Amino acid sequence: MASILDVTNLSGGYGEVQVLKDVTVSIAEGQVTAFVGSNGAGKTTLMRLLAGLIPATSGQINLQGECVNALSPPDRLARGVSLVPEGRLVFPDFTVADTLRMGAYAPHARSGWRERAEQMYALFPRLRERRTSQAGFLSGGEQQMLALARSLMSKPKVLLLDEPTLGLAPTMVQELFSILADIHKTGVTIGLVEQNVHAALTMADYAYVLEDGEIAFHGPSDEILASSAVKAAYLGIDEEA
Ligand SMILES: Nc1ncnc2c1ncn2[C@@H]1O[C@H](COP(=O)(O)OP(=O)(O)OP(=O)(O)O)[C@@H](O)[C@H]1O
Ligand SMILES: [Mg+2]
Repeated sequence: MASILDVTNLSGGYGEVQVLKDVTVSIAEGQVTAFVGSNGAGKTTLMRLLAGLIPATSGQINLQGECVNALSPPDRLARGVSLVPEGRLVFPDFTVADTLRMGAYAPHARSGWRERAEQMYALFPRLRERRTSQAGFLSGGEQQMLALARSLMSKPKVLLLDEPTLGLAPTMVQELFSILADIHKTGVTIGLVEQNVHAALTMADYAYVLEDGEIAFHGPSDEILASSAVKAAYLGIDEEA
């Protein structure tokens, strides 16, 4: 299986604080790769390193075989690495329609943006209903959908999602996972950070378990789901309880 992103011996953090230590992971083309682990394990830090928001102190990030360490976040976006950050961060004053158009701002994504916006409205009917609303007036779940759709407007080769269901009501969590499955079916490669471990592993093909800035365990996600030892040791899921 060809991989889109290959990360080798990556370290990085914030100033003096080395959060991620010697992490080697890869995201295979067409698959969903999950990154799970307890609070503070370094999942968001890994996503920031992949998107170029913080620099690597050592190691290498390759996108389809090409090193992107030196590229800025917009340059990585132009090559197809799109991160939907924790907390979604949509501009509250922009309408839904303007937000989608803005998502296609990068030169490579401009042509065909109208058709792509229509595809987004087909994928997210709630966004079509709210197309003239300002993003700040949308519910949390709708804002998450908008952030996802904005990201898809940039024609990503790999869509990185940091806690897309955080803070959402259970029915909205289900709806979002079903939309993610639809997005995946269209051939988009996904890197997924989720606190909703069971749902993430059920959806993912492969998973990495982070602990204290390192990869504690990795494997096909069905194997992780089937291993009560791994779940108890790293994910706080104790089936005996
Ligand atoms: N801006 C920052 N400056 C300094 N340290 C930070 C910063 N952001 C995160 N950290 C530290 O880095 C470590 C990893 O944080 P990170 O946000 O990557 O974890 P996480 O796995 O995403 O956790 P969560 O599940 O709570 O989102 C933590 O110890 C955290 O305190
Ligand atoms: Mg996080």
